[in-house]
Formats: sequence, C-alpha cells, structure tokens
Amino acid sequence: MTLSSPEELQAAAKQHLWMHFTRMSAYNNGDIPVIVRGSGPYVYDDKGKRYLDGLAGLFVSMIGHGRTELAEAASKQASELAYFPLWSYAHPAAVQLASRLAELAPGDLNRVFFTTSGSEAVESAWKLAKQYFKLRGEPGRYKVLSRDIAYHGTSMGALAVTGLAAIKGDFEPLPPGGVRVPNTNFYRAPDFVADDIDKFSVWAADEIERSILREGPESVAAVYLEPVQNSGGCFPPPPGYFQRVREICDRYGVLLVSDEVICAFGRLGYYFGSERYGYVPDIITFAKGVTSGYAPLGGMIVRDELIEPFLSGSATFLHGITFAGHPVSSAVALANLDVFERDNILGNVRANEDGFRATLEKLRDLPIVGDVRGAGYFYGIELVKDKATKETFNDDESERLLRGFLSHALFEAGLVCRADDRGDPVVQLAPPLICTQEHFDEMEQILRAVLTEAWTKI
Ligand SMILES: Cc1ncc(COP(=O)(O)O)c(C=O)c1O
Repeated sequence: MTLSSPEELQAAAKQHLWMHFTRMSAYNNGDIPVIVRGSGPYVYDDKGKRYLDGLAGLFVSMIGHGRTELAEAASKQASELAYFPLWSYAHPAAVQLASRLAELAPGDLNRVFFTTSGSEAVESAWKLAKQYFKLRGEPGRYKVLSRDIAYHGTSMGALAVTGLAAIKGDFEPLPPGGVRVPNTNFYRAPDFVADDIDKFSVWAADEIERSILREGPESVAAVYLEPVQNSGGCFPPPPGYFQRVREICDRYGVLLVSDEVICAFGRLGYYFGSERYGYVPDIITFAKGVTSGYAPLGGMIVRDELIEPFLSGSATFLHGITFAGHPVSSAVALANLDVFERDNILGNVRANEDGFRATLEKLRDLPIVGDVRGAGYFYGIELVKDKATKETFNDDESERLLRGFLSHALFEAGLVCRADDRGDPVVQLAPPLICTQEHFDEMEQILRAVLTEAWTKI
C-alpha cells in the first residue's frame, strides 16, 4: 500500500495513527497536520506550506532540518554495522561517543550509560541511584525529589519523578518514592520572597533541605532538577540556587541529577546546562539534541564515584535496553557534534540570545502577555487575564484560549510552537540553534498578530 496523495495520507492517519498526548477528537472535523520535509529552521506540510519550527520539533532539531551529512553518517554506519548490543560488547561509535561526551561533560562525569530516550535516561538514573546506595551499604535510600509541575518523562518510573498531577492520576499507583519540592517560578513566588530574587533563591533551595529532613535523609536517593525547568514555561534558576542545592545534596549524601534532556547540547548556549549555571551534578540525563533528532538516542553521564562499586567482584548494574547506544544513533550523534564544532553552534546561541530575548520582550506591550522568561534559545511567554494583578485564566477560559484558539491559530499563521497550560498558560519557544534575528522577528510578528486576536476572544 502506498499512500502518496495528501488525501490518502490524511484518511490513513485518521484510521491508524495514534498521536501522543493528543486529544484525538480534535481532528474529528479537521485535518491532522502532516509534515513531510524540513530545511534549516523550516518545515513543510503535505500541501507545501512552510512553517517556522519554533520548537525544534520537540526541543530536538538543534542544527536544523535537512542536514545530509547526518543522513550520510547514518547510512555509512548502517552499511558497516547496523546493530550490535552494548550488553557485554562495545562498538566503535558508542565508544567514540562516550569518550567525546565524557570530555564535554563537567567535572568527573566520565562514564556514559546509553538509553534510547529521555524517560529511560531518567529511570536509569533512579535505578542506578538505588542500586549504588545498596552496594554502598545505604539500602534505605530510594526516594527522589523533583519540582512541582516539572516534566521528567512518561514511563512509570519517570512519571513518578514527574511533578504534573494531571498526567499521573490515571496511572496510579506509581512506583513509591516521588516527593515534590517548589519550582523556581519567580513570577509567581510566594509573597514573603516575591520582591527579592536572592531571598527567593535561598527559600527555594532550602525547601529541598526541609524536604530531605522531613522524609529522613537516610531514605532520599536523589534530587532531579532541570537547569531551566521546561514545564510551567521556562523557569530559570535564581542566582546561587544550584550552588546552594549542591551544598545541601552534599550535606545529606543525596545525588544531584541534572535532567538535561532539553537543556543540553546548546539549548542554553553550552554543551550542558549545568555548565552555564556553574554546578557539577552527579548525573546528567540527556536525549533529544544529542542527535538533533536524526536518530533516537538518550543516556546518562555519571561521576566516576558512581561506577566505583560496580568495577570489582560480581557487582553488575542490572539494567539494559536493546537499542541503547544503537550504532546508527551513535554515529549520527558524532556527526551532529562535528557540526556543532564546525558551524560554531554554541557561538551562534551566545551571540544571538540577547537579541532573541529582546525581540520576545517587545511582546510585553500586549495586554495578554504577563511574563517573558527563559535563557539561551529557550523561552516561555506567560499569558494572563490581568497584567496588574497577574490574574490567570480559569480552566474554561484556558481551554477556549489554548486549545480552542491559540494552538491552531499559531500553526495556521506559520509558526510551530507550544501553547501549554500544564502550569499557568504559556506559549513556549525553543527554535533550532541556527536561528538568527530574521527568524526571531518572524516569530514575534506571528505571535503579535495571533496574541492580539486572542485577546479579543477572551
Ligand atoms: C526534562 C525532560 N526529561 C525527560 C523527558 C522525557 O524524554 P522522552 O520523551 O525522550 O522520553 C523530557 C521530554 O520532553 C524532558 O523534557
């Protein structure tokens, strides 16, 4: 069966494809968008219409679309050795990539355990923490702290780390041990720290300590934090936050996991988000941008100390995934990192991030824009009903605004981005790292027109 015409594809998609996190009924009376190709920061649908990919697919396409050198790297590797497992064996692409990541990672994070996705990376880190502490004679440590509204993945373990009640309830009971701490949303900080970001920083970090003490330090294995929290709309860390959290983790022997599934590989202008904020975690989890999406890959990079108990005797990390560190994905990741170096991708983000921020900040003159926040090429625009009071939308209004109007209207206007109300309503932007001022202007123009219209519909 070949489905070559747009009509055939549309009909088959409606009959056979189950889209992720998608209300399928939304397409009962409309077309499912079908994206057929990409070039640079743009993608094209099956009717030839062009869209600016303001979300890099899903925080993935760092170097943009249509890079034939990555496709060639995949083809070469598949011809040479398409598959072999990392269960007892190595293959050159995984070895080279592990070495390169160890070199790029901060501190003594020198050991790489590959997965195929971010959720698996998050779960692998939790399993490692549990087994590590058992081997070290601290078998009671199994709990993991993470922040309110933070997204850390969807598989059962990762979901237990995720802080979004709305996507968890239907899957209870989840593995025990997930504990929530406050996030770093300064726009909606509690009153007693709302006028002083340094005080807010101390309070938010100390809440982690209070939580460790409440749970009992001997029961806590790890704290999971993103350098900039995605869900809720790009919360950067306040000054000194990670330094204080690092001290707290050290004080109680708790592992600090930097979940960099979004924030690594240039999103914040550095190979790793932890580098930007000057902290050395015990584990970095990554996925998405490591291959710029030309093949699936994830993993964790861990400090030397964490593999120590596994390096002698019969100790074995009892965990594995068939396709983890797949040769083709590893070769593609290496080619991706070559492009990063050759095209100075990090330099482009660092040179242009102020321009990106300034361009989005222009939208603050709209009555619906309450906050613009983020870092690097990673921004959230919070939408409010009343700027002065920061009053947000109720569930019905949010439903009408985001699902009923904004998501569709922004896409129709030629911009791929995310309108999200998992926390307060936000529009999120995380474009490919090759974007420059002309693309920021295009985003701003589309957002301005659509948000202006949205205001008239409230
Ligand atoms: C911070 C973070 N962790 C984990 C995940 C899960 O990654 P995946 O969808 O590859 O399983 C995501 C996905 O967006 C994420 O943003």
